[in-house]
Amino acid sequence: MNKHRLRQKINSSYQALSGSERLKAEKKIYEYLFQWDGWKQADTIAVTVSLKNEINTGPIIETGWQQGKRICVPKIDPEQRGMEFYEIQNFGELERSIGQIYEPKKSVCALVPPEQLDLILVPGLVFNKEGYRIGFGGGYYDRFLNRADFSTAALIHTFQLQEHIPVEAHDVPVQTLISSDGLLHVG
Ligand SMILES: Nc1ncnc2c1ncn2[C@@H]1O[C@H](COP(=O)(O)OP(=O)(O)OP(=O)(O)O)[C@@H](O)[C@H]1O
Ligand SMILES: [Mg+2]
Repeated sequence: MNKHRLRQKINSSYQALSGSERLKAEKKIYEYLFQWDGWKQADTIAVTVSLKNEINTGPIIETGWQQGKRICVPKIDPEQRGMEFYEIQNFGELERSIGQIYEPKKSVCALVPPEQLDLILVPGLVFNKEGYRIGFGGGYYDRFLNRADFSTAALIHTFQLQEHIPVEAHDVPVQTLISSDGLLHVG
């Protein structure tokens, strides 16, 4: 199956998930994440503000703040095909941007250079057991993940794990997959 078809397939599985199934899986995923040394040891964490068909990252952001961590969210530059992370200290520092995604307000948020990020929670739709992923199609994460030496993890529903996914030369795998079944360290 090509990337486009696989994205469609996983989006349908998301649609088929009931509200209670989703919440149950998310609860376990949060537990595994917060118990993980990779989370505990990270002071500065990059995460996206989730939309509907994604694992809800709201509780992750709030827990991070409660634990005194720096929470950074990406701002995309479509012209440059680039992305930078900015620290947010509350949800009021976000604004709706292209595609209705929430992004940091550049006027109030500090830019955090890639070298300062300890852990990046990488979004994506489809993953394989080697940590390769199919994202939302911009190549933004593939470009960014080469920029420094941070650790990377993805939070996934078990149906997002697929046996065969097409991998291209520019695709960058994540190191750890976290699902409701636990952690899978892949690299
Ligand atoms: N490191 C790179 N250098 C140049 N072009 C790239 C790079 N990474 C990705 N691209 C280009 O970006 C486009 C989208 O890439 P791809 O299909 O891998 O997206 P994705 O992995 O779903 O997106 P993302 O990484 O944002 O989640 C492709 O046309 C690809 O050629
Ligand atoms: Mg890719």
